[in-house]
Amino acid sequence: MGIATEDLERRIKTCTLCRLHRLRKNAVPGEGPHDARVMLLGEAPGRNEDLRGVPFCGAAGKFLDELLGIAGLRREEVYITNTVKCRPPQNRAPLDDEIKICTGKYLKKQVKLIKPELIVALGRIAAKALLGKEIPITAYHGKMVKARFAGLTLSIFLTYHPAAALYGAKTRLKLKEDFAKLAEVLKTI
Ligand code: URA
Repeated sequence: MGIATEDLERRIKTCTLCRLHRLRKNAVPGEGPHDARVMLLGEAPGRNEDLRGVPFCGAAGKFLDELLGIAGLRREEVYITNTVKCRPPQNRAPLDDEIKICTGKYLKKQVKLIKPELIVALGRIAAKALLGKEIPITAYHGKMVKARFAGLTLSIFLTYHPAAALYGAKTRLKLKEDFAKLAEVLKTI
């Protein structure tokens, strides 16, 4: 028997493997059922998430709840986590070494344990972490791809990061359209 998701969540809370642990108030392991069919992957905790230890609990999270509704999903039925589990200073993008350490140690295990039927990659950083390469999210958003990750073949739905919508009405609309497509995709899996 390997470790369970709750053990992993406990380990993440006390992790000191990269520099990000030094400034954090709380690590944010993830939240949701440990047998969820759908996993949502963001970038990194922001200020609110760091304060509460809960993913997507600020402004982007409020919009994410609206998007989940469009896809016919409730927050309680999906597992939500991030590429890195600790807040980068000033909300900068996580660095490659931080992503490598955190995904290698934690995200891969979360995916293996939860075995979601579908992962929604929210934005460029999440897509890169899963696919192992940069992709232009403007060209790939709203699309499904398959990728090998953590020894599994994953079905990944690509879209923008919900925070991007807070700065632009066009991206907000595209995100809503993508989550309407996601509703259709979910009927087929
Ligand atoms: N942005 C993210 O990528 N993740 C969160 O948990 C909150 C904001």
